Amino acid sequence: MKGVILAGGSGTRLHPLTKITNKHLLPLYNKPVIFHAVEKLVNAGIDRIMIVLSPQYLDDFVSVLGSGQDFKSKNTGHQIQIVYGIQNEPGGIAQGLCIAHDFIANDSVVLHLGDNIIEDDIALHVANFTSGATIFLKEVHDPERFGVATLDKNKRVTEIIEKPKDPATNLAVVGIYIYDNTVFAKMEGQPKSDRGEYEITWVNNRYVDEGTLRAESVKGAWFDIGTFDSLLTASNYMKEKHLSEKPKAQ
Ligand code: DAU
Repeated sequence: MKGVILAGGSGTRLHPLTKITNKHLLPLYNKPVIFHAVEKLVNAGIDRIMIVLSPQYLDDFVSVLGSGQDFKSKNTGHQIQIVYGIQNEPGGIAQGLCIAHDFIANDSVVLHLGDNIIEDDIALHVANFTSGATIFLKEVHDPERFGVATLDKNKRVTEIIEKPKDPATNLAVVGIYIYDNTVFAKMEGQPKSDRGEYEITWVNNRYVDEGTLRAESVKGAWFDIGTFDSLLTASNYMKEKHLSEKPKAQ
């Protein structure tokens, strides 16, 4: 299993913070945002990760993450391997995944959106994954900001709608996905959405059509740090977590 973290785009909603660097390198209390996605994948036993990013931030990412020297493989105890893929224009999450096609080769992949901070552990889902796709859902109070899933009476996903004006449920699709290698065939001929992007929701719906999409619910906190408020809330959350986990001085 390979890992791909999407960290493209310029993050204009976070100007002027993102005039200095990319939003995925901003601090979340004691670590850059991107560290959380890397750690999530490493904890799930993934040793080879491609970070997809915009060309102007490549040097910044290499300064912070290098080749992965700060992260140790759960399998071997040695350093993991981080490589970089360049997305010239942010044409959508599905397009970002396509940039990693050669890197993924014939493998399956965990795709992690770099601006998502997910507390739950996905290691078991990765270990048990065989085929199809696994997505993760979370009940939210503002589903219109996300991909929103509708379920049938057997709790199988019947449809996902990207940022619906009038959401049918409050089940948001979290920004971490596990795909088998058929994901690339599914993306052939994909149309752009009305907002001009190759949407990951469209790809997920192809797995729904095929009957191979599995939806799991995520426990614990989940943040999408695209706004000042969510960046601050996530930072404060990380501070509390860090302090509560720190061994107390005798
Ligand atoms: O946060 C979860 C949501 O993420 C899902 O519920 C939605 O279904 C999914 O479409 C996505 O929605 P967003 O509108 O929040 O995606 P956003 O454009 O903010 O991009 C998410 C991450 O992917 C962010 O870290 C930047 C990166 N990205 C995005 C695009 C469009 C890229 O690296 N390249 C891109 O072209």
